[in-house]
Amino acid sequence: MTNTVRATFGGKFGVLMATLGTAVGLGNIWRFPYMCGAHGGGAFLLVFILCVLLLGLPVMITEFFIGRHSQRNVTGAFDVLAPGTRWNLIGYNGVITSFLILGFYTVVSGWTLDYMLQSVLYSFENKTAEEFASEFAVFSSGIVRPLFWTLMVILITQFVIISGVKKGIERSAKILMPLLFVFLLLLAIRSITLSNAGVGFRYLFEPDFGKIDSAAILSAMGQAFFSLSIGMGCLITYSSYFGKNTNMQETAFQVNIISIFVAILAGIMVFPAAFSFGIQPTAGAELVFITLPNVFGQLPWGNLWAFIFYALLAVAAITSVISLHEVVTLYLHEEHHITRKKAANYVSLAVLLLASISSLSLGVLKEYTLFGLTFFNFLDYITAKIMLPVGGMMTCIFVGYRIEKKILKAELTNEGTIPFYFFNTYAFFIKYIAPVAIALILFYEIGLVNLIMKLF
Ligand code: TRP
Repeated sequence: MTNTVRATFGGKFGVLMATLGTAVGLGNIWRFPYMCGAHGGGAFLLVFILCVLLLGLPVMITEFFIGRHSQRNVTGAFDVLAPGTRWNLIGYNGVITSFLILGFYTVVSGWTLDYMLQSVLYSFENKTAEEFASEFAVFSSGIVRPLFWTLMVILITQFVIISGVKKGIERSAKILMPLLFVFLLLLAIRSITLSNAGVGFRYLFEPDFGKIDSAAILSAMGQAFFSLSIGMGCLITYSSYFGKNTNMQETAFQVNIISIFVAILAGIMVFPAAFSFGIQPTAGAELVFITLPNVFGQLPWGNLWAFIFYALLAVAAITSVISLHEVVTLYLHEEHHITRKKAANYVSLAVLLLASISSLSLGVLKEYTLFGLTFFNFLDYITAKIMLPVGGMMTCIFVGYRIEKKILKAELTNEGTIPFYFFNTYAFFIKYIAPVAIALILFYEIGLVNLIMKLF
């Protein structure tokens, strides 16, 4: 590619907001409370925090290294660091994974927009839990409404992407992310002041160590990877826009801490509310689209709270959609020499097609299954449970075994101008600890660990 000057994010604040934009999403606010609910509350929270700090942090720093050092898209980055080798397959895995995640993530993002509008148009009061449940089932299995909102999500994303790295991605993140934190705090305060908040608190913060089994540990690790957007080069892409003076250790640390904080706030918001109304912390889609409307319906100013909640979820989701879209757009733009706008158009069109099929697979296309899963669930399964762990593991192996420590250290210390006190620990982690841990997640999730356990 003819090297025109590459875009970079403006300053420290822009870098942090953009990175938080990708990390904080449906994973933190919708998936975390449900995973936490499924694995015993406080115990899960504890293991999740350990996973974020011990695995998420080093892997994130590693992706930052690859991105900023190469200043390339997700496949080009590997061609720069290891020319003429097949290591760039890690990048291709990333491009495909992004695209496939977009196939279901945009659909769920669309649901948040629909519920946002519903909270303006219809009263949530005087409805039973069953009514909320059946309304959600009818809506999500329908044709026009979900497809319309998926299209809206893609159009908003398209608009931000073609506005450019600085004027689109960075600027939208700088406006939307602070807004998200204000909404989140408001909701958390509302939740804390509910009559039965204590039960929810105890559930979230009192670890029951008996509940920490291998399933909880491995699920917490998976949640950490999904929630931090690691494993497929999303952060390679974003860090390729970091300036040479960006402190990547600090950025990674801040993003990790804030991501944990958001997940805890989401827990604080969801559990006391659920317990206050005698609702169990149930499965993912249910919790956010059925249980919470039920909760909101029973609160004074319920529709206002519902609106704030779904707006928050929409913002979190769309900034993450943008990051996934950018991975594929930048790849096409740099590797296939087409304009950014054209690349974005192709990606949006392809995502629209994929997302439509996955949305319809919850309704009219329900009969067409792959390995026993609807297309929607299939996309979720192969990306989160197989492709992300493989990508994350390979990324660590690549940097751990292929990159000279001197080069790694120079990049991460901005050529020696900032210290990296735990560099050797970090290098040890990515070479030995992280790949093994990720391999365990992978084996566990595709059922190999169970198989091996049975053999002994
Ligand atoms: N981290 C986001 C969330 O929590 C989702 C996401 C965005 C993601 N980009 C990603 C997940 C890349 C895995 C890989 O919702």
